Amino acid sequence: MNIGFIGAGHMGSAMIEGLLKANTVAPENLFVKGGSSGTAEALQEKLGFRLIKDYTSLKECQVIFIATGAKIVLEILKQAAPFMAKNTILISVATGHTVEEAQAVLGEEIHVVHAIPNTPVSVNAGMIGAVFANDMPGALKADALNVLESLGKVKEVNEHILGTFGTVAGCSPAFVDIFMEALADGAVSQGMPRALSYEVIAQMMLGSATLALETQKHPGELKDGVTSPGGSTIKGVAALEKNGFRYAVIDAVNQANS
Ligand SMILES: NC(=O)c1ccc[n+]([C@@H]2O[C@H](COP(=O)([O-])OP(=O)(O)OC[C@H]3O[C@@H](n4cnc5c(N)ncnc54)[C@H](OP(=O)(O)O)[C@@H]3O)[C@@H](O)[C@H]2O)c1
Repeated sequence: MNIGFIGAGHMGSAMIEGLLKANTVAPENLFVKGGSSGTAEALQEKLGFRLIKDYTSLKECQVIFIATGAKIVLEILKQAAPFMAKNTILISVATGHTVEEAQAVLGEEIHVVHAIPNTPVSVNAGMIGAVFANDMPGALKADALNVLESLGKVKEVNEHILGTFGTVAGCSPAFVDIFMEALADGAVSQGMPRALSYEVIAQMMLGSATLALETQKHPGELKDGVTSPGGSTIKGVAALEKNGFRYAVIDAVNQANS
């Protein structure tokens, strides 16, 4: 299968790395068109895919991702549409447009998927929300799912919640990164080496997430399991609540989603 990319910035490059790492596509079957800043060229030197300068080679691709800034997506699709073969799967990861809008630009012979991923797709541990065009043939939907599932977990969702899905799955890695950095700052202030702190914290988060996924327990129940009466954890929990941690997180999601 040939896969095409329009846009190789933060999200485009994360997906390209994940697809190559999973062997979903070989470098010689991956066609990437970047913008004007040289980002795609630098990535090409590292990963060895086929850098393309215009849309003509897109004809050879069965799946095409578009990962440019949201405002220019529909305009770029309009320019690229004449170069897409019948039954191409077009996966847009850009926010700010609907499947219907993309479909209107591309016509009925191209099948649109709107998928909002997050940066862990680069290590095949992504969380992807996906909306498929209503009339997409089953075999093409299966192909699209195969490609996306090689990047992480995929949830098919209603389009009206895709924005919030994108906020919670796509923006939160930055919130979590800040949390990890803050935890390490605390550990360092208590005398623990920084490198060791980051390693311990990342593994702790991976373990907590795995426990939540595998047990399906309510987060409050998992928290209760860590907080022994009069113990140190409940004192830390009280300090978080005193400092507005829970509201800070809710507000971050609301602000990011506004
Ligand atoms: N970052 C995330 O975590 C995330 C998560 C979910 C969804 N998204 C969505 O993904 C999209 C891209 O986000 P991003 O963070 O990757 O932004 P970004 O780093 O700015 O990447 C956008 C890329 O598009 C390229 N581009 C612009 N015009 C182009 C054209 N005509 N042909 C080919 N490439 C072109 C730019 O290249 P030059 O800079 O070289 O011009 C740039 O590298 C956005 O719509 C965003 O909403 C992002």
